[in-house]
Amino acid sequence: MDSIRITGGKRLEGKIPISGAKNSALTLLPCALLTAGKLTLGNLPRLADVDSFGHLLNELGVSTKVSGAKRGGGAKRRMTLQADEIASTVAPYDMVRKMRASILVLGPMLARMGESTVSLPGGCAIGDRPIDLHLKALEAIGAEIELAAGYVKAVAPGGRLSGGDFSFPVVSVGATENALMAAVLAKGRSELFNAAREPEIGDLCNLLVAMGARIAGIGSAHLVIDGVEGLDGCDYDVMPDRIEAGSYACAAGITGGSIELAGARPEDMLAITNGLAAAGLMIEMTGDGMRVTADKPLRPLAISTAPFPGFPTDMQAQFMAMLTVAEGQSFLEETIFENRYMHVPELRRMGAEIEVHGRSAIVKGPSRLTGAQVMATDLRASMSLILAGLAAEGETEVMRVYHLDRGYERLEDKLSAVGATIERVSAG
Ligand code: UD1
Repeated sequence: MDSIRITGGKRLEGKIPISGAKNSALTLLPCALLTAGKLTLGNLPRLADVDSFGHLLNELGVSTKVSGAKRGGGAKRRMTLQADEIASTVAPYDMVRKMRASILVLGPMLARMGESTVSLPGGCAIGDRPIDLHLKALEAIGAEIELAAGYVKAVAPGGRLSGGDFSFPVVSVGATENALMAAVLAKGRSELFNAAREPEIGDLCNLLVAMGARIAGIGSAHLVIDGVEGLDGCDYDVMPDRIEAGSYACAAGITGGSIELAGARPEDMLAITNGLAAAGLMIEMTGDGMRVTADKPLRPLAISTAPFPGFPTDMQAQFMAMLTVAEGQSFLEETIFENRYMHVPELRRMGAEIEVHGRSAIVKGPSRLTGAQVMATDLRASMSLILAGLAAEGETEVMRVYHLDRGYERLEDKLSAVGATIERVSAG
């Protein structure tokens, strides 16, 4: 298995191009199921999860053609997808278990074909992650749901969903996405209350509208969808990845560096940039993104994760790593997932002083981090270890790089371009 080796202690300076957003790509790709027309997605990140989603869609009968995919090359990746005929309405277990986001085929497949069967995703490293809200929302817009033999089968009586209203008791990004993709082809109107407002949901709505969907309230928690008879293909660019941009901003913070995040969209990142500024980093807008500079010791923070526009749970681990070098005690609270501190024992092994009490963590800075061999259990936890490695004295080896490959495009190239000593070590 590959690992990433870092010799820490370098101040990072330069420009990092921000890739297309993983979480957006994973909800735009299944939109190909909604039309027989050609859907071309540009600015697609080159990530293992995007490839896996492409393979899942291939199994369902969607053709995919990729261009500009060269590793390390400047060309942005585009994928043209076409589902003129659906070969299967079943997403099997061996695809879904590899990637939880596979559940996002449930809604669009149901809308297009009147039925859809998807394996239940099962547990995952950061908590139970149930899909009850996906199913309740689909039921509210007219689906009949049956669970059997580890699969969920959704059927639209009469072949087409009726449309209907649903109020989410808990904000869920995935369930909002599934409901939206199902509602756009329903007979009537659907209203979603307390819908997730993450920028990736806005990206999904904008794509659906470009395909011919009728959606009002985009960007708000109240979405009104008037179903249409059919949707067309279109050409659409994936939004920039706010979590990737935030992660590299933390790299500037933890190394006392200055990094330009080229192509980042500041308006999607207010909670992140407010946190960075409160920690003492300087944020300057550039023509095409922003520059983040750490020119003085970092200040500690108190952060609680929350649905957008709150502080993203996907940035908690990276901020925690950065705060290990801040001057004083930081308090973090994780309110979204119940098991999202798995990076803590590894950060401790690198010299960090962190206490966890249930969903809260206290980071006692500043620590002098030292390199170590560390193992990550999920994507963002892996990034927190990379960040700690960039600041640590000596060599850090981060194992299980496949987690990083799920969500960070060309991580080692991007970090070496700003001065990090980092390499991928192939296990052969
Ligand atoms: C998405 C993101 C993930 C991010 C998360 C929260 C993708 C591919 N993943 O995950 O990176 O960390 O949003 O911003 O976009 N819940 C239920 N029942 C459900 C669904 C969710 O109880 O049916 C709960 C979850 O356990 C969690 C909370 O709702 O506590 C939020 O989860 P959700 O927003 O659905 O996360 P994902 O869409 O899985």
